[in-house]
Amino acid sequence: MTGKRSEWDSNLTFILAMIGSAIGLGNIWRFPNVLYSNGGGSFMIPYIVSLFLLGISFVLVEYAVGFKFKTSLAKILYNIHNKLEPVAWFVLTIVFLITTYYICIVGWDLIYLALSFTKAWGSNPDLFFTQSVLHSTDSIRGIFTIVPTILVSIIIIWSVVWAIIRTNLNDGIGKVSRILLPILCIIVVIFVIYSLTLPGSYIGYTQIFNPDWSALANPNVWLAAFGQIVFSLSLGMAIALTYASYLPEGSKLVDNALIVAFSNSGFEVFNSIGIFSVLGFMAMTSGIPFNELVTEGTGLAFVVFPQAFNTMQTGSILGPIFFLCILFAGITSAIALLEGICYSISEKFDFSREKSATIVSIIGLLISTIFATASGSFILGIFDAFLNNFALLFAVLLECIIFGWIYDFDELINTLNENSRIKVGKLWKTVIRFILPICIAGLWIQGIFSSISQEDSATLAIRTILLAAIIVLPIILTKLPAGNEDYYEN
Ligand code: PFF
Repeated sequence: MTGKRSEWDSNLTFILAMIGSAIGLGNIWRFPNVLYSNGGGSFMIPYIVSLFLLGISFVLVEYAVGFKFKTSLAKILYNIHNKLEPVAWFVLTIVFLITTYYICIVGWDLIYLALSFTKAWGSNPDLFFTQSVLHSTDSIRGIFTIVPTILVSIIIIWSVVWAIIRTNLNDGIGKVSRILLPILCIIVVIFVIYSLTLPGSYIGYTQIFNPDWSALANPNVWLAAFGQIVFSLSLGMAIALTYASYLPEGSKLVDNALIVAFSNSGFEVFNSIGIFSVLGFMAMTSGIPFNELVTEGTGLAFVVFPQAFNTMQTGSILGPIFFLCILFAGITSAIALLEGICYSISEKFDFSREKSATIVSIIGLLISTIFATASGSFILGIFDAFLNNFALLFAVLLECIIFGWIYDFDELINTLNENSRIKVGKLWKTVIRFILPICIAGLWIQGIFSSISQEDSATLAIRTILLAAIIVLPIILTKLPAGNEDYYEN
């Protein structure tokens, strides 16, 4: 047997772990760009509507299901209907593949953290990133060329993550969240306050409060808001479900969900003030128009920000602060992504936490090695577009249908209302059954259209392999016999 079921030592640990899982790269480098490209200040309206109506609603489903069943996603779906187990492995395979490249990006960040003390990226950070760090061929041609620095940093991050998830719940994820999250918040406060003192910061942060009301009439802006909420709250990735299953009886689920969702959104809005201020400073000192500076993802963190640190006297202090922030946010998210996978494997195959953490980490590291080649960033882009815009959204849609339509939804309402001060009711049911699936389908179709445009044969081949993996692996994992008969009992 896998031993006694894990339980959080306090509600605070659960909340910190949940916030840690939500706050990640998406909050730091995705949100500012989404905000800016979708109307600036006025974007807050679709954003808040999506947060309340869709984001929190779905988190509540995950909480209720995890808390009620108190077991892993694979077993929960098997219990709901024995034909549904593949859906669980489908979700978990997608999450696992996302983790393999998420960890690589955290690895890049580790390299930049080391470089930032001396601003070792030199006067051309753009060239430095693609040539000196990634050795990127920007095609499949470099697949057999390993980039040693990246490989080492990926191994370091996987080792750290492995060490955390193999340790028991409270001494591993719990303790790390209790330490890293407060430090992360302090770092961000320092980052934002300092960046506000930079000359030209106002050019940047005023953009956040500068509304373009006409953007509200554009449905894509609403989809972008919803997309950000899905990403930022890590919806449908079985994280909230897994973490909630470790809660003790009597926990206030709705209250907890609201605290986590507000903290996550508060973090990204607050942090974007700092990001925009640095970009405002850059616009003033370099003369480059502000709109050309606002990029997202790696372009923002590893190119534009190093450029800004170059022009700042205090760049070698703010630089490490910034990269440390990404590192901590990335690690607390990566462990959360893996916990749900390890839990399902432990339960199905009757493995100890250590054993499943080790198996998952070794396989994960092997897959991540692809990203440590000269084709790494090219393949990573394909993984990201396929898994995030296409596969994951489809998985969330399936989860909505299963929990909203196949499972007895009123049970979930009772579970949530049992101990919470704030109650949910009919509106929630309507959102999960109708509104959420429609919005997800909208995002999904939009994602498919946007990814059709650039197709070379390598991209198609990688997508086909990914598609095969997310179909075949779940079937194999379902067919493999469970390690103990309890697994098949309700
Ligand atoms: N919510 C986290 C973030 O914003 O980075 C974690 C995460 C979300 C990881 C989505 C991966 C992902 F595809």
